[in-house]
Amino acid sequence: MDKRPIGVFDSGVGGVTVLKEIQKLIPNENYIYIGDTASFPYGSKSQKTIIKLCKKRIEDLINNNVKLIVIACGTATSQALEEMQKIFNIPIIGIIEPTVKYLKDNNIRKIGIIATAGTIRSKGWEKKIKQNIKESDVQSKACPLLAPMAEEGWINNDIAKLAVHEYVKDIKNIEALILGCTHYPLFIDSIKKEVGKNVDIINTGKMVAKEVKDYININNLQNDKRNKGITKIFLTDIECNFINVAKKLMQIEDISIKKLNN
Ligand code: DGL
Repeated sequence: MDKRPIGVFDSGVGGVTVLKEIQKLIPNENYIYIGDTASFPYGSKSQKTIIKLCKKRIEDLINNNVKLIVIACGTATSQALEEMQKIFNIPIIGIIEPTVKYLKDNNIRKIGIIATAGTIRSKGWEKKIKQNIKESDVQSKACPLLAPMAEEGWINNDIAKLAVHEYVKDIKNIEALILGCTHYPLFIDSIKKEVGKNVDIINTGKMVAKEVKDYININNLQNDKRNKGITKIFLTDIECNFINVAKKLMQIEDISIKKLNN
C-alpha cells in the first residue's frame, strides 16, 4: 500500500480535465495538482522555457512527496517529457503515448490533431503516430486562442463557437480528432457539432487515466481501496479565473486553492 499522492500539473485549468478522468478511475488515490498560472500560456513559449518550467513544477511535486507524476499538458508533453524522464528518477506519464496506444489498438489511421502552437510546431504527436501506426494520415491545426478562452471561462458563447469553427473547418475526412491540448475538452460540444458524430473525439485524459491505473497496479503503488482520496490544488498565481472554471469542470461547489510558494 502506498498513500503518497499522484502529482498532476498543467499551465492552468486544462489539466483538470485529465485529473478528473484519473479520479474517476481511481478515486481512492490522493492527488496534488499544480496549475502554473503565473506562466500561462505554455503554448506560445519556446521549448527551452517549457523545459525550465516543467523542471520547476516537477521539483515542486517531488517536494510534496508524490509517487508518480502526470504531465497533464500537451505542450509540455511534446516538448519536455523526454528531457524530464532523463533528469528525474520518478515515473512521469505524459498525454501522447497512452493516446497513440489507443489509436493503434483501435486501428485508427485518419487522424486530426488540434493543439497549441508549440505542440503543433514540435510535431510531437506526428512523430509518435508515425512510429507506431503504419500508413497513418495526419492533419494538424494550431488553435492558439482556445486555451486562453478556456481559462477565461469562454467555453460555450458565440465567440468560442466561432473560434472552434474557424480552427476545425478545414480538417476533413478523419476517423478521430485528438484534443491535443488538455484545455480543449471544455469545448467538446462545439467541437462535436463541427466534426459530426462519426468522428471519435479523443479526450486524452481518459487514456492517461487508464495508463496511470495500470502503472500503479503493475508496480504495486496502489493506495488502500477504502481510502477516500484527497485532492490538493496549488497555483503559482491565484489572481486568475481558475477556481470558477475548475468548479464547473469538477462539478463541485467547494474547491480550496493555495498559492504555491515559489
Ligand atoms: N493545457 C495545455 C496543453 O495541453 C497548455 C495550454 C497553454 O498553456 O497554452 O497544451
